[in-house]
Amino acid sequence: MSKFVDQEVNEMKSIAGSKSPALVQLLEWIFNPLGYLQTNHQKFGDCFQMHFTGFPPFVMVSHPEMIEQIFTAPASQFDVGNSNFLLLPTLGENSLLLLDGDRHQRQRQLLMPPFHGERMRAYGQLICQITEQVIDQWQLDQPFTLRDSMQEISLQLIIEAVFGVREGDRVVQLKRLLQELIEAMTSVSGTVAMFFSSLQLDLGDWSPSGKLLRRRAQIDQLIFAEIAERRQTPNPDRTDILNLMMLAVDEAGQPMTDQELRDELMTLLIAGHETTATALTWSIYWIHRLPAVKDKLLQELASLPDHPDPSSIAKLSYLSAVCSETLRIYPIALMTQLRTVKAPFQCGNHLFPPGTILAGCIHLLHQRPDLYPDPEQFRPERFLERQFSAYEYIPFGGGNRRCIGAAFALFEMKLALATILSHCQLTLAETKPVLPKRRGLTMTAAGGVKMALSDRRSLPHLAPS
Ligand code: HEM
Repeated sequence: MSKFVDQEVNEMKSIAGSKSPALVQLLEWIFNPLGYLQTNHQKFGDCFQMHFTGFPPFVMVSHPEMIEQIFTAPASQFDVGNSNFLLLPTLGENSLLLLDGDRHQRQRQLLMPPFHGERMRAYGQLICQITEQVIDQWQLDQPFTLRDSMQEISLQLIIEAVFGVREGDRVVQLKRLLQELIEAMTSVSGTVAMFFSSLQLDLGDWSPSGKLLRRRAQIDQLIFAEIAERRQTPNPDRTDILNLMMLAVDEAGQPMTDQELRDELMTLLIAGHETTATALTWSIYWIHRLPAVKDKLLQELASLPDHPDPSSIAKLSYLSAVCSETLRIYPIALMTQLRTVKAPFQCGNHLFPPGTILAGCIHLLHQRPDLYPDPEQFRPERFLERQFSAYEYIPFGGGNRRCIGAAFALFEMKLALATILSHCQLTLAETKPVLPKRRGLTMTAAGGVKMALSDRRSLPHLAPS
């Protein structure tokens, strides 16, 4: 073995980590992920190893300089798609999340534009309309689960953005099946089955894996039927994302196959609404838990001209700070996607050998007191007092794998929040602080947050025209 290889091997050995059995670590990761991260961080610092039964060990990094090195490394430095294998059964091998190299880059270039700039802003009115429809269903003084309502908003929006249709049997069925699929994936038993491949048994509709397989097959049928119809009667004028994907060709002039289209659609449908629903839930929770935050926000909204256009709502500084702080304090994803080192990689004081798996820890980075004094306090003002770099604040990850829906998710959050606050007076129906809890691969607000509508506001000048 060369000296160089010796050094690499020693580097990996020098990364400290819990000595608990891999099974115990995995169970902690599933059932108490924040406790697991905090304990390891306290013991081992900004870079430690984690080891779970059935998975290769990986290194969790929470120092901004190391995160910068990971995010600014060339795309060829890491493999990422392979480590997302937990998503393979649902999303399929052609999902952006499972691709690497040129194909990954090409698909990103195709899928990014609809979620940015003018194309994204065109969804402004739609976001406000969908939000109004959902809040119209709330009954005075009847407690409801906030997350369910927020999921209705985000799911309806992504379906309309992807397919360009609002109503019809297919949309109704798709919504129901996606909700059931997500339920199967994120329930406690579904989450455990996802991490333990030996539990992924099809024991009929009552087992999480059986339910998942059936719902997936039913969703596939609907998606393939939609694709077949569009192939029969093409309409190049449609502006929805499915049409855009169907018109795209690769460098050899080949369009995407039905299976490729299906995998990418499924990725957008699932990644594009679960996370945002939780983010919206947390933001409304914090606003109603902290009256001073709500008052400031209402004051800022009241400063808008009558019937503001959605883009001017999205530019409001305090509203933006509330959304940023929401995604800081309890990030929806605890960590970035896993990056497998392909060639020796210098990061901090370490030289990681090929095969090392690295992840940026969003939760621990966002809890650093040197960046965020009193990190456990919800304080939007911190985002008005200073700017954080793309390596200090990373709710959407970074580098060439940064979330493609980041701008869209923030736009949706701000408009839905402004619409809700301008139409409703809500009361938090929770007696204790709501804490984060695992939901599949992401985190959510435990119990979904109970709220009640105490009055309908009539502040029409706040309602976007
Ligand atoms: C608050 C909402 C959201 C949060 C917190 C979030 C968070 C993330 C994070 C942390 C990553 C991994 C980035 C990395 O490894 O560096 C990611 C990737 C991704 N997100 Fe999001 N996301 C959100 C909304 C969305 C939306 C609305 C969409 C689609 C419209 C979306 C689609 C994706 C896709 C396709 C990837 C994979 C990108 C790639 O591997 O190239 N996400 N997201």
